[in-house]
Amino acid sequence: MQIIRSVAELTQYVAARKNQHQTIGFVPTMGALHEGHLSLVERAVGENECSIVSVFVNPTQFNNPDDLRTYPRTEEADIELLAKAGVSAVFVPSVGEMYPEEVEVKKDFNLGSAAEVMEGKFRPGHFQGVAQVVNRLFELVRPNRAYFGQKDFQQIAVIRNMVESEGIDVEIIDCPIKRADDGLALSSRNALLSADQRRRAPEIYAALSDSVEYSKSHSVRATHDSVVERLDAIPEMKVEYFEIVDARTLLPIEEWDESPDVQGCITVFNGKVRLIDNICYRPF
Ligand code: PAF
Repeated sequence: MQIIRSVAELTQYVAARKNQHQTIGFVPTMGALHEGHLSLVERAVGENECSIVSVFVNPTQFNNPDDLRTYPRTEEADIELLAKAGVSAVFVPSVGEMYPEEVEVKKDFNLGSAAEVMEGKFRPGHFQGVAQVVNRLFELVRPNRAYFGQKDFQQIAVIRNMVESEGIDVEIIDCPIKRADDGLALSSRNALLSADQRRRAPEIYAALSDSVEYSKSHSVRATHDSVVERLDAIPEMKVEYFEIVDARTLLPIEEWDESPDVQGCITVFNGKVRLIDNICYRPF
């Protein structure tokens, strides 16, 4: 596996692959890799002649400086995992390499209304930062396919909007959420949980899963409240938002028959650690 740290080297590497008419599969990450990332990597490796993974903690998508400061960084272990997974190249740029002063890196994307709700409301500027780094990475890596995890359900919708509005020729592939045996959605942030917080964290998925059954005989409002009340009753847990939305527009619904595809998206503070998850309500 080639370890690439500069834009110049990456550009050269990609040009050589394109000259050989290889397909490029790309997995952008912020490192602290876990099984969830590796499931995306496995698909990128299996479905493309060349697979590239980026490891870059992107400062422009953090609206909270503490969150950026404490974000787990495990570069050496990440590189080892990627080499074992058979990745062709890993791109590990510095902030200066990604956002050099002399280059005006595009920002301010048309991300549609999907970027205004939920994470968009609670993390102002977050999705513009995600769009900025993903757009820059797409320009450099020029992938045929890019792989994203469904844990970040809203992020995928926003990236699809960015790709469409920028006219980028790439297939966005969404991959199922990977969970620990106890149901907790795998996330780099799980590493920040204390032992007690980690023990309680699977309640998030338990509440979501139970609510799918509950939703069959209860209103949207009652289903919503059952999840929030259950989680808020747990020590150290506080739901930041839970929205039951149309899976395409991400706008909240009030009746189950308003949309054929309904998703519940949740963000919960477990102590100071902000965890997200989501579940499909319809179709069954
Ligand atoms: O999902 C993530 O880890 C990040 O938002 C991404 C897509 C790598 C952009 O920094």
